[in-house]
Amino acid sequence: MAQAELVCFEPSCRARYAITEVLYNCSKCGGLLEVGYTGDRPDAGTLRRTFRGRRTNNAPLDQSGVWRYREMFPFLDDYAHVVTLREGNTPLLDAPLAAQYGGLDRLTFKHQGFNPTGSFKDNGMTCGTAQARRLGMHRVACVSTGNTSASMAAYAAAAGLEALIFLPHGNISFGKLAQALEYGARTLEVEANFDQILALVRVLAKRLGIYLLNSVNPFRIEGQKSIIIEMLDQRDWRAPDWIVLPGGNLGNTSAFGKALRECRETGLIDKMPRLAVIQAEGAAPFYDLVTHGGEFHAVKKPETLATAIRIGDPVSWPKALHEVCQSQGVVEKVTEQEIADAKAQIGRCGIGCEPASAATLAGIRKLTIGGVMDRAADVVAVLTGNLLKDPDYIHRYHTGKLEGPGRVKIHSTFGNQSVVVPNDPDRIAELL
Ligand code: F0G
Repeated sequence: MAQAELVCFEPSCRARYAITEVLYNCSKCGGLLEVGYTGDRPDAGTLRRTFRGRRTNNAPLDQSGVWRYREMFPFLDDYAHVVTLREGNTPLLDAPLAAQYGGLDRLTFKHQGFNPTGSFKDNGMTCGTAQARRLGMHRVACVSTGNTSASMAAYAAAAGLEALIFLPHGNISFGKLAQALEYGARTLEVEANFDQILALVRVLAKRLGIYLLNSVNPFRIEGQKSIIIEMLDQRDWRAPDWIVLPGGNLGNTSAFGKALRECRETGLIDKMPRLAVIQAEGAAPFYDLVTHGGEFHAVKKPETLATAIRIGDPVSWPKALHEVCQSQGVVEKVTEQEIADAKAQIGRCGIGCEPASAATLAGIRKLTIGGVMDRAADVVAVLTGNLLKDPDYIHRYHTGKLEGPGRVKIHSTFGNQSVVVPNDPDRIAELL
């Protein structure tokens, strides 16, 4: 039987706490916390057989693309705490057109936009809400650029918890705000940016005894590990050369790295893929840190139309830095134009995604041009959110009305406008 505990991530501290403590940072040094496990885990062969066997089982826990892999994050003492919306189970999609655009022979997308609320946040939220229930919490809260709040609202509703959502006023897509409202969350739009609101919510969570479900919550990270585990299972445990993902608050980068290390330790994979984290140019503090070294400097006024990753002071940067180093990874940044065009190309594959997700393909293109990523490399890019999350952006791009920060015009390079026609078969036939 595995034992779980909370462990300080700082190598010089490594303080340990009971798994049932309500903590987001180390009480001794203030460092980030992670869930650590001791005791035996089944061997790789047994795990592979167990995971595969569960796919044909109708039990809700096994139907979940997260909980199917529960031996990789055995932090619960009782699975009755789990509320599943059958999250995960997201496809691996080949995208030859996008591969060509990115300068690769082939490219596969792991599309997290197929999740119940349309983003990868569901993988983590099912774990975060299970832990909230186990701790006996009644209220959960998060600050969000939109997807975390949509996901938390849904899981809280399903779990019978009260959801409190804090959003940067005017800077989240309407689709995401609409989800929070529809799922019944109490929604506050604060006149501040994501980083400022996170500080505010931390204070309120402590004062009011509310459980915080941002990615600083280590149980969210445990759930997001399943994105990688499921992808490896779908590839029959052949690790790719690269895994590419967008970087905002850097929770996902932390989760992916932890998953890869643990899969390697368990013998589920025999090589470590390299992580490539892509940031938007106007919100790229992690890129600056990795490229220039030295101290971490937050970006005071982060700006990008990819609002999901409009974050200047990512809390999980120490974990993410560790994971990028461990995987011999890289960090790249891309412009608004590059994101917009890459997004249109992903659309042309019949796949589509929200702007932040498209940073992956824009980054791949830059990395192949720069000779960092080999044309023949085996690459999986993670599309983090669904196309329909931000339809306003899409319409503006295709009609040539999209403007980036500072009102810089984004060219509609691959634009596709609708045409108004009279109700007249002759005129329409002529047009076609
Ligand atoms: N892609 C999408 C679609 C996102 O919603 C986010 C983060 C990211 C990428 C970046 O992931 O923060 O783990 O590096 N969205 C958060 C939110 C911040 O509030 O929904 P990260």
